[in-house]
Amino acid sequence: MLHKDPIAHAVAAALLTLFAAGCTATGPQKPEDAKPAQAAPAKPDYTKMTPRELAEYLVFQSGSYDLAQPTQEGTTGRDRLTQDEVQKVCTEVARSGKDIDDKTAERINKLSMATIKYPEGGIKLGDWRKGRDIAWSGFGFRTAHNVDDHSRGAPGGNCYNCHQIGPDRTGGTIGPSLTGYGKIRGSSPEMLKYTYEVIYNPHAYFACTQMPRSGAKGLLTQQQILDVMAYLFDPESPVNK
Ligand code: HEC
Repeated sequence: MLHKDPIAHAVAAALLTLFAAGCTATGPQKPEDAKPAQAAPAKPDYTKMTPRELAEYLVFQSGSYDLAQPTQEGTTGRDRLTQDEVQKVCTEVARSGKDIDDKTAERINKLSMATIKYPEGGIKLGDWRKGRDIAWSGFGFRTAHNVDDHSRGAPGGNCYNCHQIGPDRTGGTIGPSLTGYGKIRGSSPEMLKYTYEVIYNPHAYFACTQMPRSGAKGLLTQQQILDVMAYLFDPESPVNK
C-alpha cells in the first residue's frame, strides 16, 4: 500500500504533478488519465546494430548482465569490463581495422613478457592426465546467470574451444592445431620455456592475440600450466599418439 512506502508515494505524486502540468492545455484530467506515465521501453532495432553496438547494448543497457555481481577473483562484473593497458591498445588496433604495427607489437610483447613468473623448481612437465582434464574444461571463471563455484572443482584452461589438441576429440579452430605438439617439436628446454611462456601470457609472442593470459591473469596456477604442458609434450599423451 502506498502509505507504507513514502518514497514510492512521493515519486508517484511528483510524476502525477508533472503529468498534470504537461497536460493543462487539454483541460482537466479524468482520474484514469492521471496515472503516472510509464516510460515506454526503448525498442532497439537489433538488425540495425553493429555486433559491437549489440554487445554493448546487451551488457550495459538491457539489464541482462549484473555489473555489480561478485566474480571469483573477488572483484565485480564491472571490473571485468575495465580494460588494462594491453587490452586498450589491442582494442584500438582492432578498431583501426589495420594490422598492428611493429613498434606497438614490440611494446606489447615486452610488457607481457615482464608479467611471466616461472616455477621455482624450473619448468618440469606435470601430469598429462590432469593436463588433459584442464585443457578440455571451460569451467572456472564464468559469471552472469551461473557463476562457477570453485568449491565444485578447479578451473580449466578452455584450450579445446580454440585448438584441436588430441586426435581423439574435436576441438576449435580459432588457434592452430596442437595435435602431435611434442612429437613434432621435441622437448628441448627452449621449447618447454617457449610453451610455458605462451600459455602464461601469449601476448609475449603474439601481440593482441585472442588467446587468454592464463598465468598472468590467474586463471591457471603454475602447476596447472605444467600439467597442460605434459598433455602437449608427454610421449604417453594422446596428443602425441
Ligand atoms: C580464445 C582462443 C584460445 C584459447 C582459449 C587458447 N588459445 Fe592457444 N592460441 C590461440 C591462437 C589464436 C593462437 C595463435 C597465436 C596468434 O597468432 O594469435 C594460439 C597459440 C597457441 C600456442 C602456440 C602455437 C605455436 O604454433 O607455437 C600454444 C602452445 C597454445 N596456443 C596453447 C594453448 C593452451 C595450452 C591453451 C589452454 C590453456 C590455449 N592455447 C587456449 C587461441 C587460443
